[in-house]
Amino acid sequence: MSELLRLENVTKRFGGLTALSDVCVSVRRGEIFGLMGANGAGKTTLFALIGGQLRPTAGRILFKDQPIQGKRPDQICRLGISRTFQIVRPFAGISALDNAIVSSLYGAAARSRAQARESAMAALDAVGLAPFADRPAGELTLSGQKRLEIARALATGAELLLLDEVLAGLTAAEVEPMLETLAQLRRRRNLTIVIIEHVMGALMRLSDRILALDHGEVMALGEPAAIARDERVLATYFGGA
Ligand SMILES: Nc1ncnc2c1ncn2[C@@H]1O[C@H](COP(=O)(O)OP(=O)(O)OP(=O)(O)O)[C@@H](O)[C@H]1O
Ligand SMILES: [Mg+2]
Repeated sequence: MSELLRLENVTKRFGGLTALSDVCVSVRRGEIFGLMGANGAGKTTLFALIGGQLRPTAGRILFKDQPIQGKRPDQICRLGISRTFQIVRPFAGISALDNAIVSSLYGAAARSRAQARESAMAALDAVGLAPFADRPAGELTLSGQKRLEIARALATGAELLLLDEVLAGLTAAEVEPMLETLAQLRRRRNLTIVIIEHVMGALMRLSDRILALDHGEVMALGEPAAIARDERVLATYFGGA
């Protein structure tokens, strides 16, 4: 599998606080790459650096071998990277379809209004929201709104999705279908997915590899089975092996 994204010695400081320290990692095309770590470990900051909402203090971020650090979010989006936000933020008053159309027009996929509508509809369909296309986004359940976040990211035409806690707040019954949706997206749309998740079991099942961050540093990186046995991970998550 070839490499799609590479972080080289990425550091991010906020004043005196080092949110990420010398992170080196690469994500392969077509993989589901899990990102775990305690609150404040630097997970969302990592997404903001990749998505262009923040600039690294040091280090390089390469997408398809091209450096992207310092580019604007809209430029990065057009290159094929799209992220969802931990706190869902749809345009609540407009329909699910119009939300996805806005994303499609913003991203690389659409050349015309008709194309935007088409890719928006395909994105809604891919996350199971086609029946709710005309529903105001604010009227969807939390699970529906999380799905809409993913549809909006998809509608941009992204090849790389960065999903920030799309399972958080879902009921136990909603988690399983969401996992199936994510696995299907990778299979059917050739996507590469980086997913931040606190629901450990789900992350372990879904991911090909997992990166565990601890206070902004790489604590462990590897296949789920290896992460589940990692002494530092066990100590951090379960208070000792
Ligand atoms: N814009 C900012 N300005 C200052 N400090 C920030 C900023 N964004 C994040 N931080 C700090 O950087 C650290 C990492 O935060 P981040 O949001 O990346 O953590 P996280 O791993 O996503 O945590 P959570 O699981 O709670 O979402 C925290 O100490 C946080 O307070
Ligand atoms: Mg976060």
